[in-house]
Amino acid sequence: MNAPTENAELVRQHLIDPEICIRCNTCEEMCPVDAITHDSRNYVIKFDVCNWCNACIGPCPTGAIDNSRNVGKNKVYSLEEQYSWDSLPAQEALSGTLTATTAALPETVVSITATAQAGQGGPALAPWSAAHPYVNLYTPANPVTATVTGNYRLTADNASSDIHHIVLDFGSVPFPVLEGQSLGIIPPGADANGKPHLLRMYSIASPREGERAGHNNIALTVKRVVEDHEGKPAKGIASNYVCDLKKGDRVQVTGPYGSTYLMPNHPGSSLMMICTGTGSAPMRAMTERRRRRMEQKEGGELVLFFGARSPEELPYFGPLTKLSKDFIDVNFAFSRVADQPKKYVQDLIRDQADKVFKMLKDDNCYIYICGLKGMETGVLEAFRDICRQHGEDWDKLQPQLLSKARFHVETY
Ligand code: A2P
Repeated sequence: MNAPTENAELVRQHLIDPEICIRCNTCEEMCPVDAITHDSRNYVIKFDVCNWCNACIGPCPTGAIDNSRNVGKNKVYSLEEQYSWDSLPAQEALSGTLTATTAALPETVVSITATAQAGQGGPALAPWSAAHPYVNLYTPANPVTATVTGNYRLTADNASSDIHHIVLDFGSVPFPVLEGQSLGIIPPGADANGKPHLLRMYSIASPREGERAGHNNIALTVKRVVEDHEGKPAKGIASNYVCDLKKGDRVQVTGPYGSTYLMPNHPGSSLMMICTGTGSAPMRAMTERRRRRMEQKEGGELVLFFGARSPEELPYFGPLTKLSKDFIDVNFAFSRVADQPKKYVQDLIRDQADKVFKMLKDDNCYIYICGLKGMETGVLEAFRDICRQHGEDWDKLQPQLLSKARFHVETY
């Protein structure tokens, strides 16, 4: 980019820091005007489309989105320039007038806009009683090294998918997490262009006090990727690296990430958890947190709707089926069991319409969805139908759930 001329009219350009960005796609999903796009390396912002509504700022798990540069009005950074960056260019020393129309909104406007948009699909919020999350303590430029202390195949030998339970120990280095947060793993080596591999994000499957209570360790649920979205053979770089890790291996970790997909802590709060496959990771973390505190009898209801191909492909929930129905109501939907009709989680939700509706209307019930994108669509349809049956309008209820931080979705 050419240096802007002195005393030029300046504009403030919204930019994403590629060094911190974890390519989670959240900003692109949140942007109401489609100003954000990406290629295989970087997420970028279209200057002429971005209206600084800031819907993307709050949900970004790393803060990469919270960047801007003042530039000459006719010399904004092009998409090509942004795609080529490994790091943000420094702010150039400029003199000129920042025009009001494209300058960043004042803080108060940002916060009022954010409040107004919450509940309309706007920025996500954490439950009011969630604990304080730490985010982005370790970055790709400054990762923490964890040691693998366990790698266990969860799916049965005859199962078609290969899902692993990996335990990482952080030794004496702090890595504070809350249930629902995720971390990044940087696979060693470089891509075809010689650039270091980008990190991949994984949901943490263990509760805040450690996979082993009182230990500085965490667990992950990772499925080995062997085909692409079209079903063609494709070896996932990070998932294969993680699934092949051996005890004692050392891994570069970033994060933690996520400040809204968190569980409530207040007595009497209920959880409705809906997941498919490895989307069970945050549900395991939350369930385990509640299980360890069961004696205190402070929690409300726990209900789990879990979709998997077959009982052989269930990550984690073997042991959880032994928990009493008083503690957690576990409902499995199996889609590929011989001689049985295909069942999805949304079918189970419909089967329990009255109970689900009661939970949707209960201000103490928090709803978590994690797993396949198609499942999200199916679950929302089921909620819509259940609401209609009960004389309620889902399109009115959903914004209320969002504004009360009672509705949390992570799908891919
Ligand atoms: P299916 O057997 O039709 O693929 P996976 O093992 O691929 O991670 O998937 C986990 C579970 O989610 C499987 O039972 C899978 O069923 C199911 N699933 C796939 N698509 C949907 C969908 N659109 N809605 C709900 N569940 C789905």
